[in-house]
Amino acid sequence: MAAREWSSPPAVVGADERPDDVEQLELELLLEAVYRRYGFDFRQYAAASLRRRLRRRQDAEGVQTLSQLQDRLLHEPACMERLLLDLSINVTSMFRDPSFYAAFRETVVPALRTYPFTRLWCAGCSTGEEVYSLAILLHEEGVYERTRIYATDINENVLDAARAGVFPLDRMRQYTENYIRGGGKREFSEYYVAAYEGARFSRSLSENVVFAQHNLAMDRAFNQFNVIVCRNVLIYFDKSLQEHVHKLFYESLEMFGMLALGHKESVAFTRQAERYEPLDDVERIYRKIR
Ligand SMILES: C[S@@+](CC[C@H](N)C(=O)[O-])C[C@H]1O[C@@H](n2cnc3c(N)ncnc32)[C@H](O)[C@@H]1O
Repeated sequence: MAAREWSSPPAVVGADERPDDVEQLELELLLEAVYRRYGFDFRQYAAASLRRRLRRRQDAEGVQTLSQLQDRLLHEPACMERLLLDLSINVTSMFRDPSFYAAFRETVVPALRTYPFTRLWCAGCSTGEEVYSLAILLHEEGVYERTRIYATDINENVLDAARAGVFPLDRMRQYTENYIRGGGKREFSEYYVAAYEGARFSRSLSENVVFAQHNLAMDRAFNQFNVIVCRNVLIYFDKSLQEHVHKLFYESLEMFGMLALGHKESVAFTRQAERYEPLDDVERIYRKIR
């Protein structure tokens, strides 16, 4: 890199005025440091949203630069916990995109009926709303009893919430609407009891669920699955990390296994594209065919 020439001594600059290449270098160093110290690999996350979130954490911690933030991260594991929550955007809801659940009933469930036993991996499950939605759907379709759901996320905090299965009561009206639009067959309120501010979902829905930490960027395949649901996770990754995860999914799927992605995600234009056929193009449901 060419030496930088200063016409006058460098002034102390505010965070907003720092040259882009300095900030880029600080960003790379911070991500490398986080990876080495804690093992969390965010080096291949989509850069723009990463920068935005780090800037927000910087402000919340009251530090001026990314290198000051790095220093705090390395010395205060609690700061790392806070950053983890910022970076792993946990927004989710029950029966999110109801049309997806309607399509899942139509296209995936009939195939599941032909199997004596099914393994489903819900990757990037966040606080568990997606997992309980799938459990309800599978239960109503009569296949939950012979399904095991592996629900994973990089973030232990969200997994604790998922294990508890208690969701905010004030969201139940929206979830009930989603459930109905997703083809729900009963009264949604049959599945939970109101307890204080929370709706506690029936224990029977998590009976066949294994919650575990798994990092899609770093961890290996851990089983063979008939279905992988990974929605609204790959959008946070850059192209090469997406390729890495698609390879992991391909290797983790049984032949004729099905992969369900979010509305903004696709296997098209990946190295695995030819190995799948679309079952529902709009809902991004694919089947492994070779
Ligand atoms: C936006 S939420 C999606 C939740 C749910 N799948 C949905 O569609 O509602 C993204 C989730 O991906 C998880 N995540 C981010 N990076 C990950 C990684 N490298 N490995 C596993 N999970 C990751 C986050 O912790 C977060 O819970």
